[in-house]
Amino acid sequence: MKILSVVGARPQFVKAAVISRAIADRNKAADAGARVEDRIVHTGQHYDPSMSQVFFDELSIPEPAHNLAVSGGPHGQMTGRMLERLEAVIIEESPDWVLVHGDTNSTLAGALAATKLHVPLAHVESGLRSHNRRMPEEINRIVTDSISDLLFVPTAHARETLLAEGVPDDRIIRVGDVMFDATLFHVASAAHRCGVRDTHGLASGSYVLATVHRAENTDDPVRLGQILEGLSRLAQEAPVVLPLHPRTRDSLERAGLLADAARSLVLIDPVGYVEMLDLERHARLIATDSGGVQKEAYFAGVGCITLRDETEWVELVEAGANILAGADADAIVRAAEQLATVPSSSGNLYGDGHAGRAIVDALVQRGR
Ligand code: UD1
Ligand code: UDP
Repeated sequence: MKILSVVGARPQFVKAAVISRAIADRNKAADAGARVEDRIVHTGQHYDPSMSQVFFDELSIPEPAHNLAVSGGPHGQMTGRMLERLEAVIIEESPDWVLVHGDTNSTLAGALAATKLHVPLAHVESGLRSHNRRMPEEINRIVTDSISDLLFVPTAHARETLLAEGVPDDRIIRVGDVMFDATLFHVASAAHRCGVRDTHGLASGSYVLATVHRAENTDDPVRLGQILEGLSRLAQEAPVVLPLHPRTRDSLERAGLLADAARSLVLIDPVGYVEMLDLERHARLIATDSGGVQKEAYFAGVGCITLRDETEWVELVEAGANILAGADADAIVRAAEQLATVPSSSGNLYGDGHAGRAIVDALVQRGR
């Protein structure tokens, strides 16, 4: 059995690491003939060492068998280049499954390439919807889900979404969220890591952690300006640490806002995953437009202000762990006040921490 995983963007490295570990664990107990071959294709969508290599090193992800080096470019060009190169890789590898994660352009390209070649396709983190079709990720999810043979959903809500869209029940498997597996596995290492907190003198519970990278925020100077204004107002009460996604650094520079941001916020380069877990666990509050970081805030028991108008992770809002503030400075400040007065919540909305094992078991059972 050969599984070919297509990855390319930062959150996919975290998710793929969980699958690779589950495959390695399974192989330890398997006869030679029953081993699963774990082949990784890196599309090259993210390529800075701090956005890519650091995750392979820290999370012990096997070296990609192929790196397509498709870095940057507008959506059509980026996806098209990936598609062309993935087709050749899939023909060469002839896998039993192609596995794609999440909702990036790498996900879409992997899904299209596999399906056109009639190779079984499985999607991890299936069934998520923002119901906002202006988001590139929403299109990537809808297309990928509609052509996947096996859809691994993290939550009951995601399963219901797929059923309502007409996906046959026997293609959907609720496994929990692989990012929860990842957090549980690495949180002990994070306990020994406090580089950024030490460097900037950030005591536990004394600072706000923020991340911003979503196109709808970075590509709109008005939204970006409002978010910066909201974070700067929070910074009057507590330091706000912002690991800057390269896209956001470029946007702030272009909008002439970088110097302002550097004056009021603690701007740092993107950090590795373990450092990020440490920053999350010790934050007083998290403000983010990231999908993954919203969930990780909940895993850490830290309140989350979501810098978007909607979220796919609706159960976090229902649980009171997450407040949608959009890109509105006043709403960001109000959300911070509100979250300061409610006890932070955490729990297991996202499974039992064994999503990776459940995914690999299902792929083996249903393999051809
Ligand atoms: C992508 C995903 C988004 C995901 C995010 C995770 C799509 C449509 N978007 O957004 O869903 O949440 O990754 O972080 O697939 N850049 C660098 N160095 C890098 C990576 C990016 O400089 O290592 C810069 C380039 O200028 C690039 C821009 O960032 O053009 C945007 O990168 P891209 O991968 O297109 O989108 P993200 O915003 O990272
Ligand atoms: N992350 C990280 N370093 C950072 C910012 C984020 O390791 O500087 C991790 C974060 O902990 C989470 C993942 O990257 O596991 C989320 O990726 P991102 O926010 O880029 O994408 P999204 O989840 O929104 O698709």
